[in-house]
Amino acid sequence: MCGIVGYAGAAPQGADQAGGRAVEVVLEGLRRLEYRGYDSAGIAVVTGRDGAGGVETRKKAGKLANLVEVLGTDPLPQSGTAIGHTRWATHGGPTDANAHPHVGVGGKLAVIHNGIVENFATLRAELTAAGVEFTSETDTEVVAHLLARAYDGEQGGDLTEAMRAVCLRLEGAFTLLAVHADVPDTIVGARRNSPLVVGLGEGANYLGSDVAAFIASTREALELGQDQVVTITPTSVVVTGFDGTPAQGRRFHVDWDAAAAEKGGYPSFMAKEIHDQPQAIADTLLGRVDATGRLQLDELKIPEAELRSVDKIVVVACGTAAYAGQVAKYAIEHWCRVPVEVELAHEFRYRDPVVSDRTLVVAISQSGETMDTIMAVRHAREQGAKVLAICNTNGSTIPRESDAVLYTHAGPEIAVASTKAFLAQITACYLLGLFLAQLRGNKFSDEVADVLAQLHEVPGQVRQVLDGLEQVREIARYMADTRSVLFLGRHVGYPVAMEGALKLKELAYIHAEGFAAGELKHGPIALVEPGQPVFVVVPSPRGRDSLHSKVVSNIQEVRARGARTLVIAEQGDTAVEPYADVVIHIPRTSTLLSPLLAVVPLQVFACELATAKGLDVDQPRNLAKSVTVE
Ligand code: F6R
Repeated sequence: MCGIVGYAGAAPQGADQAGGRAVEVVLEGLRRLEYRGYDSAGIAVVTGRDGAGGVETRKKAGKLANLVEVLGTDPLPQSGTAIGHTRWATHGGPTDANAHPHVGVGGKLAVIHNGIVENFATLRAELTAAGVEFTSETDTEVVAHLLARAYDGEQGGDLTEAMRAVCLRLEGAFTLLAVHADVPDTIVGARRNSPLVVGLGEGANYLGSDVAAFIASTREALELGQDQVVTITPTSVVVTGFDGTPAQGRRFHVDWDAAAAEKGGYPSFMAKEIHDQPQAIADTLLGRVDATGRLQLDELKIPEAELRSVDKIVVVACGTAAYAGQVAKYAIEHWCRVPVEVELAHEFRYRDPVVSDRTLVVAISQSGETMDTIMAVRHAREQGAKVLAICNTNGSTIPRESDAVLYTHAGPEIAVASTKAFLAQITACYLLGLFLAQLRGNKFSDEVADVLAQLHEVPGQVRQVLDGLEQVREIARYMADTRSVLFLGRHVGYPVAMEGALKLKELAYIHAEGFAAGELKHGPIALVEPGQPVFVVVPSPRGRDSLHSKVVSNIQEVRARGARTLVIAEQGDTAVEPYADVVIHIPRTSTLLSPLLAVVPLQVFACELATAKGLDVDQPRNLAKSVTVE
């Protein structure tokens, strides 16, 4: 959740104080990481040299802008080394006192932390008994005091040793960075169950919760493993295990550039990311289909024989990613004739799920750091299942802990609420389903090339949808005072309806519910009263069975009770017109691929309505981009 940045570069030197850019660099990193938490922000620098100085911190509750204001009136001294933090509150409310960094006893060491130290109460009691006074309610302050005492005591002036010793005493999930006045060019980091990446620069090195922290400065990175400590200076990076054994991270090149993480002229990251969607789908398809129309997923490093023998697929994911999994269920079951279950990752692990070595668990995650999904992955592997990650973030935990990974290529998603990653996840799920069908050689396998050809049309069709949404924007602005909106869908339209409702809740703080349209008559129709807005996602009239006419009946049912119906239907579908207050047309595609088009008007509606209410669509209240606690 929280965002962490560290910079070790040139110290201020000479009359013109060249070097000493640490505060500037760390602030820039925090700006890029603010999506991870915005309850407070803070920075620490080491002051003075050769053991003569201390650490100085500035921190402030609220968004990063508040910290910037503090620094404007009360600047930090120039320094070559700094650590910075944006917080998503867990232990202790979002106050100035609870903001990170926290300073350890003696005032020479500062710490920032992401995660939860589960045994913090015991450790705090031990420190209190030893006479340590606390200034915050956080678990992090416990770590700061433990580290300062370890450094001053048994670990005799070695910050890396002190970090290792303290980590061995901590339970839970944590990424920690520490600086100490005695070693002013050094930052020591550690991680367990929480992300930490090293950025490798020229004459400077960086630490970050993810690569966005340092992408403006370097695209060469080192991914740390579980239970590792890293010590960086401007010219060195040394990795060891918590037990002191030398270790090596995995080097990788970041293929995003800094511009991809900027707003590119849009009013918000969310607006930009919605418009990035055609590219996100196209990039996720890129290089995965050969000239003959066959899928080549060379990165799926699970032997083909094992993939052929899979007798059940279980998708584990949370939130929007879980809705992508629900779309996948319809597609994969239809194409592969393999049963697919979709389970919220946080429920999966606690219900004793039935999985075996013939189960393929598919973990879908944009960030790759969602703790609920990480724990589900671990549980699945312990039960003998093979795990395939569908992930957008290279170097993150979920791909690292899975047997194989299929990366979505949506580029960095900065807005807290997911949009382009959702479409890329659905696309990757289609690729997986089509690949399994191709491998298994069932009756559907002859059609794989046809579906792939249609899928390649989708980026252009999404662009068409985006170009025709002025009417949706107007309606959204007009509906800014609405208190409740319902969303109905059937078949693949059902997860689309739920995603539409989730976007509206998150962005506009409006009560919204997504229902399976067939379920309406079993209860939810009681909510419908005159004027109630109801979005309905209508399947193609060219689709199977009588699904289309069933949904048209559902529209009539709510309309008869006074609902205002906003209908998303395929171009040329005239059957819905008599019952729709508004029809939003989407281009023709096959039913199974239609979620990639149908969800776009719902994203734009939520974004526009929230903007009309004056809300911050990139950083909705109470949320964080990557939920690294359970
Ligand atoms: C909603 C949203 C969340 C995430 C969920 C999983 O807009 O973004 O529901 O989809 O927290 O996150 P990842 O995909 O990073 O595992």
